[in-house]
Amino acid sequence: AKKVVITEDKSLPAPTCIKIRDGKEHRGKRVKIRGWVHRLRRQGKNMMFIVLRDGSGYLQSVLTDQLCQTYEAIILNTESTVTLYGMLQEVPEGKEAPGGHELQVDYWELVGESPAGGAEAEINQLSNPDVQLDKRHLMIRGENCSKVLRLRSILMKAFVDHYTDRGYEWISPPTLVQTQCEGGSTLFDFNFFGEKAYLTQSSQLYLETCIPSFGDVFCIEQSYRAEQSRTRRHLASYTHVEAECPFISFDDLLDRIEDLVCDVVDRVLKHPVGGELMKDLHPEFVAPTRPFLRMPYKDAIQYLKDNGITKEDGTLYEFGEDIPEMPERKMTDKIGRPILLNRFPAGIKAFYMSRCVGEIVGGSMRMHDYQELMDAYKANELDAKPYYWYTDQRRYGTSPHGGYGLGLERFLCWIANRYHIREATLYPRFVGRCTP
Ligand code: 4AD
Repeated sequence: AKKVVITEDKSLPAPTCIKIRDGKEHRGKRVKIRGWVHRLRRQGKNMMFIVLRDGSGYLQSVLTDQLCQTYEAIILNTESTVTLYGMLQEVPEGKEAPGGHELQVDYWELVGESPAGGAEAEINQLSNPDVQLDKRHLMIRGENCSKVLRLRSILMKAFVDHYTDRGYEWISPPTLVQTQCEGGSTLFDFNFFGEKAYLTQSSQLYLETCIPSFGDVFCIEQSYRAEQSRTRRHLASYTHVEAECPFISFDDLLDRIEDLVCDVVDRVLKHPVGGELMKDLHPEFVAPTRPFLRMPYKDAIQYLKDNGITKEDGTLYEFGEDIPEMPERKMTDKIGRPILLNRFPAGIKAFYMSRCVGEIVGGSMRMHDYQELMDAYKANELDAKPYYWYTDQRRYGTSPHGGYGLGLERFLCWIANRYHIREATLYPRFVGRCTP
């Protein structure tokens, strides 16, 4: 057979190189667009449809005649990279296409090929979850995964915008540390040039050192927890949104948590892409309204008793026991609004604690008295020495202050209605999974 070779017709207008998202302004003009073959359909020998993806959107493209008969056209698979040249045309009324237009290709080039069968041959939504995780680098090219991760990007920006609008300073604390913040059982340790060090569990203590310099501060950093069990709400490495505020009262702290949750949700919904993604991922989502229900721990225990919410073995939760996720969920579902559980008895929680909605936020007023802190080190069997810099905060101008930490992935699961926390993170880490 004769080898079909195509060349660009130089008598056509020179194309403008654009991103798919800018298509509308270029309708009726000749453009050049580079991207990945998201979908591919061949119709006879003379017609080929490509849905092109370039990260900014999807574009339907039509290739006819010789354009579908080259060697490159015959070996083309989904996930190949191509450059398409042609006229962008509005689709006739009644016909659907992303963006409302279609590219009539007049010339194209193959940039990088892809194995036979494309990515679907290796992986799809029905594959075993472990295989999907092994191939997550390919899964994230799919529409479902990329929607959640795009919403995550918008959500992170909403947090930054919230805090900067409210006058907080953005801090970048270290994540390699020599102190613990949330108890020894979930600490990852490692050899730091011959010294024992840990991956941070929380940036709280470092943020506390920043309030005398900057006042209200926040950070968005990775926190690490050596959680021994696989659950749908725990990761070994997660994105922790934390804030610390000097001279606030406990009620101020709860007000600020409410403000954060409501304002961030509002910003995501108002974001042009965020709002669309929310409609798509979680159409029934109802933004929470203020005030949240503020429920002291002792009332929560009573609520569980009164409403027959028991442990798995049928026994009741008693005062002094922690309230785990399952009863907390049942309670939140019944009450139908966010709950700020507060006034935990000392002993349940380390130095502090108060927490919000299905364990999305945990926060507290901090100990600001020097002696109380020294006693707490003792009670927790902690050597005060590596904490000298933290202790100094109580020596040099202590102040009442409080703060909280919010798990970004849990927040995202809540707003995007994802069942499993691993869907809310790029490459999840948990027992048995540190790849890709
Ligand atoms: O409740 P936690 O352990 O509180 C702290 O770390 C405080 N020092 C934060 C602070 O006051 N600055 O964690 C805070 C939040 C939890 O409410 C939860 O959303 C999230 O971090 N979180 C996890 N998310 C995913 N995987 C895990 N293993 C998590 N552990 C905590």
